[in-house]
Amino acid sequence: MPDALTLTATTAADLQAIGERLGRALAIGDVLALVGPLGAGKTTFVQGVARGVEVPADRHVASPTFALVNEHPGRVPFVHADLYRVERPEELRELGIEEACERAAVALEWADRFPQVVLADHLQIVFEPRPDGRRLRLTATGPRGRALIAAIKE
Ligand SMILES: Nc1ncnc2c1ncn2[C@@H]1O[C@H](COP(=O)(O)OP(=O)(O)OP(=O)(O)O)[C@@H](O)[C@H]1O
Ligand SMILES: [Mg+2]
Repeated sequence: MPDALTLTATTAADLQAIGERLGRALAIGDVLALVGPLGAGKTTFVQGVARGVEVPADRHVASPTFALVNEHPGRVPFVHADLYRVERPEELRELGIEEACERAAVALEWADRFPQVVLADHLQIVFEPRPDGRRLRLTATGPRGRALIAAIKE
């Protein structure tokens, strides 16, 4: 199975469609480490992931920049966190992010701010704004990450 994949999303809808394919494959314990500048499309992507996880359509999957952590019900519990405003590593435990990785599928925006919170086996997705949309670079760090890349390619 491949360790890496590069995709281009021309529109926000394209980006959400990729997220939805990934979301359909997500299982408890899977961690998505989302990396990229402000406005790169991380939250937009997570909205698609939530659809794939079967989060009810009436749930508002918004940027958790102020709440920091949102949890949504779905085929598996889905935890969406944004580490942009987290300042100290101790806050990660207070926010329940470490335990969420054991009982939910987890998407972490700004995951590169606290590399220690990300499990050894995860899928990193780097979002690069481009003139023609967004480039996504996916890198798997273990077997689950590789399985998720394979699922996106299907
Ligand atoms: N091809 C594209 N893919 C994704 N988003 C796009 C694209 N083109 C334009 N956009 C717009 O870019 C914005 C992306 O915002 P979004 O909140 O998803 O970014 P973010 O990476 O979560 O930012 P933040 O770091 O502030 O949380 C949205 O307004 C979206 O409509
Ligand atoms: Mg965001």
